[in-house]
Amino acid sequence: MASLRGGFRALSWANQLLSHQRPSWKCASCKIAPPATARSLRRFATTSEDASKPYYVTTPIFYVNAAPHVGHLYTMVLADVLKRWRTLIGDRDAQLLTGTDEHGMKIQQAANAAGIDTQAFCDRNCQTFKDLAEAAEVDYNYFIRTTEPAHKEAVQYFWEMLQHRGYIYTSKHEGWYSVSDETFYPQSQVHLSLDPATGRKRMVSIETGKEVEWSSETNYHFRLSAFTDRLLKLYQTTDFIQPTQYNELVVKSVSSGLSDLSISRPVERLTWGIPVPNDNSQTIYVWLDALVNYLTKAGYPFPPGEGSRLGWPADVHVVGKDIVRFHCVYWPAFLMALDLPLPRNVLVHGHWTMNKEKMSKSTGNVVNPFFAIDRFGVDIMRFFLTHRGGLESDSDYDNSYIIRDYKKHLQTGIGNVVHRTIGCAKGKLREYIVNATSGNSSASARDQADQARDQAYEDTLKNLARNVTSKMVRLDPRAAISELVRVIAETNKYFHHSAPWENPEEKQRVLFNVAESMRITGILLQPFMPNKAKELLDMLQVDLSKRGISSAIYAGDPDYGEDVKAKILFPPLIVEE
Ligand code: MSP
Repeated sequence: MASLRGGFRALSWANQLLSHQRPSWKCASCKIAPPATARSLRRFATTSEDASKPYYVTTPIFYVNAAPHVGHLYTMVLADVLKRWRTLIGDRDAQLLTGTDEHGMKIQQAANAAGIDTQAFCDRNCQTFKDLAEAAEVDYNYFIRTTEPAHKEAVQYFWEMLQHRGYIYTSKHEGWYSVSDETFYPQSQVHLSLDPATGRKRMVSIETGKEVEWSSETNYHFRLSAFTDRLLKLYQTTDFIQPTQYNELVVKSVSSGLSDLSISRPVERLTWGIPVPNDNSQTIYVWLDALVNYLTKAGYPFPPGEGSRLGWPADVHVVGKDIVRFHCVYWPAFLMALDLPLPRNVLVHGHWTMNKEKMSKSTGNVVNPFFAIDRFGVDIMRFFLTHRGGLESDSDYDNSYIIRDYKKHLQTGIGNVVHRTIGCAKGKLREYIVNATSGNSSASARDQADQARDQAYEDTLKNLARNVTSKMVRLDPRAAISELVRVIAETNKYFHHSAPWENPEEKQRVLFNVAESMRITGILLQPFMPNKAKELLDMLQVDLSKRGISSAIYAGDPDYGEDVKAKILFPPLIVEE
């Protein structure tokens, strides 16, 4: 992992520079900024990739007020699979950013409640998220913390640019604030509710059920309402939000009107954050601060013309469905205000639930991801989360589901095929591969039904990489891994019906096909289950140089299979429910 991380180091020079001095071109840019109204409407997002820059994928940055749970692990793994997929494709340098969101009232209150200095509290909890990324083998290039000096510089610069362009004004703000959601809600979005635990009546957000408190204060506002038309055009002319069902929800909400956004809090209420430039009486709203993290690590503020070389715009922001508004409305509007290129896609996923209730720190119904990884193994958890986790819908978590899927798809799926293939080949697998790939195969199918079965199965293998790729291009890792699972099941059936152990004349063809299925599946599984895929490819003696996507074609590697020895890939689970 260390060497891969080095890739982003080239991007950090701007941050180093920033920590000493602001780039001189800043002022020039501020002075010549045209008035907001005169700025041209441009197409902000495109569906085509910019192949000249690194592929850049991000996770949300995690609040450090509490320990991570399986929902956080899911977000990290999804982003990691996208990054590793891109590395497998091998056409562009791929970069993954993750990190922690350390400012705001929620963190301030949690540190106070724990009786610990706030920075020390952040340091401790940030480390737990780093540990989780390591435990889950998330191949990140950078781990950002919003308390880093370079990030503070980037956020303050971003603010000043918004201000220079006339998008910030002060006004009195009245409304309901949820510390848990770090969000203001208008009257129409809150209601009175009875807390079952205490019997107390309190105001809560209708959307999240989180308690809100009345706030009346003077603070800074961002002219969000000025972006309604441009945002709608973005949603309607590009595939910015994936899957599309979330796009429809956002369009509906934005069409009903956008109010300007409060983007600071008085220091009497919030001290733990980045001060508003030139006004120490106000602290920048935590969500504006947090969203800018994606720019900070791409080297913002960019030297003129350098943004894309440094990675921006992001190719994909992976986010849970609870933070769609921040990423799909506020974030593009902020970027539009500064004429910065927009991220290509926001990939939204559903939530993990327990007994159909959202897994959440505040509810307490959480699964400790470290325990889950210890118990089942990192690859098993990565497999389970990507295969069962929903993008469009929520997914219920239960240990028994992990055990069920492990047995069905891994033990008696891949594990079984590998074992039977190697056993049935009786040390001659290499011979079958050489014969098949050199055209020496003499065996002919027994009858038409056998021929049709072989043909259909070979077609499946020939199409496998293309099918999986098209799902990954659509940003649907779940569909991609489901396709692999489907082909593994088909392989088991093919093996069973072909009965190569009874038909020596068929053995050559069937064992070659099944070996090909294992090899191609092994290559395509690497982003999802890096360790098990490696074990499988090592077992088949696939050369390291032939593990890229270009080798994932039927009969595409004549050189593997020498001296293959069967090993158990998926042993019985020690503790069962
Ligand atoms: N700090 C903000 C994100 C700022 S990004 C500029 C935040 N942090 S969080 O720690 O509350 O959540 C981080 C991610 O975890 C979000 O994508 C959120 O959707 C995800 N999840 C939190 N609970 C989850 C589940 N129960 N299931 C799946 N993902 C969940 O929001």
